Amino acid sequence: MESEPPMPHVLMISFPGQGHVNPLLRLAKRIAAKGVLITFSTTSDTGHQIISSSDVVSADDGVPVGNGHLRFEFLNLNWDKDGQKHVLEESMLNLDTVGPAAFADLIRKQSLARRPVTYVVNNPFIPWAVDVATDMGIPCAVLWVQSCAVFSTYYHYHHGLSEFPTETNPDISVCLPGIPIMTPEEIPSFLLPTTFHKSLTKAILEQFRNIDKASRVFVNSFTELEPEAINSISKYAQLIPVGPLVEPEDNSGSNLRGDLFKPTDCLEWLDTQAPQSVIYISLGSIVTITKEEMVEMANGLTTNGRSFLWVVRSSCQELLPQGFLEKVKGKGLVVGWSPQDNVLNHSSIGCFLTHCGWNSVLETLTAGVPVIAYPQFGDQLPDAKFLVDIYKVGVRLKSPVQCTALHAAIEAVMDGTDANGIKENATKWKIAAKTAVAKGGSSDRNIEAFVDEVMKRAA
Ligand code: UDX
Repeated sequence: MESEPPMPHVLMISFPGQGHVNPLLRLAKRIAAKGVLITFSTTSDTGHQIISSSDVVSADDGVPVGNGHLRFEFLNLNWDKDGQKHVLEESMLNLDTVGPAAFADLIRKQSLARRPVTYVVNNPFIPWAVDVATDMGIPCAVLWVQSCAVFSTYYHYHHGLSEFPTETNPDISVCLPGIPIMTPEEIPSFLLPTTFHKSLTKAILEQFRNIDKASRVFVNSFTELEPEAINSISKYAQLIPVGPLVEPEDNSGSNLRGDLFKPTDCLEWLDTQAPQSVIYISLGSIVTITKEEMVEMANGLTTNGRSFLWVVRSSCQELLPQGFLEKVKGKGLVVGWSPQDNVLNHSSIGCFLTHCGWNSVLETLTAGVPVIAYPQFGDQLPDAKFLVDIYKVGVRLKSPVQCTALHAAIEAVMDGTDANGIKENATKWKIAAKTAVAKGGSSDRNIEAFVDEVMKRAA
């Protein structure tokens, strides 16, 4: 009897947040494109949101699957367990309690369906995935979804390897190998003694509890972007850059996006705008700003007079000043959610006012778009430092935003004395980012090496 050909099968499992799903799903696409079967999983409610905001229906049970396919199968549990919109800490606790058994079931189901799992890849915000996989004898890699510098910062803090601000010594700067000195305002805010988010700090540091169990630690970055940080942390953890994980340019095979919100089509409006003329504003999927900030921002944009595309999630749109939308009609467009990758790559975009979430950072670098950095919390603070001081692709905007400061920042980045230098740097990073993930680039080779290992294991 002829034996069935081996089917290398990677099971990916993501924490159900936009900033986690996007990079893991993009890594899934890159690995699948090299001939590996991928099953992508997250909680059931989040998973169905991903599918409903895409144009492609997932290949699911009953449909023959094989090498190179990307299919979806969700954990038998919901993130928002009873539709009550729990606080993050409660939902995380619930996920930590019921997730491991649901995940073990999912792994067993794959064997029953004759596609045993060769490798698991998870993001470390659900550290139990590594425990479940290794207990079941399956190797597991993790994908760190923030920068290598941020990984190093948390790692040093968690293991007590460096001095950090304390209640008695709140003003000390942090000196870490391979990373520029960071003031207390530039380290991830969850590590400050004054943080209000103690349980989130605990969850973040929990990621390091068992990271040594992972057979590989992938990072959504690229060697050319953070050479010193990657090199200097390697004595503790070997980080393998596989980024920037942005939507592949040739996405014709699948329009599937990792978005948890339905994007509004604003590209037609961008088509009507002059090249490099539009300010794009988006603060990601979590950050909310106060009514005062919203008003200052709206006034800054009106005073400035340039065209803008502003993402204001629908839950925050009531904070816009009365009459604002009518006032800016024709000049500005406010949407609830945008297809950000396409927007940043649109020729009309002149700059990006960003909260500096790591996905947005990589997306803007890959698109070569200059930034106005407006970080709010967590890793966004060091990310802003890198964007402005190290990569030199933009200017900083102090929080809380003031109308006049916003106007000045826009002018500085679009037309100021440094604007040309900023644009040149942005173009330089765009080329470096695209080269890293192109065939034979530094990140592509790292993905290729992983695929080779998966293939060998499956053979
Ligand atoms: C969170 C944290 O806030 C961030 O600090 C961390 O680095 C990652 O996890 P988030 O705030 O959502 O992420 O920001 P970001 O990392 O930028 O991810 C947002 C994603 O949503 C990006 O991929 C972006 O392209 C996408 N997006 C955002 C859209 O597609 N449309 C939008 O309108 C806004």
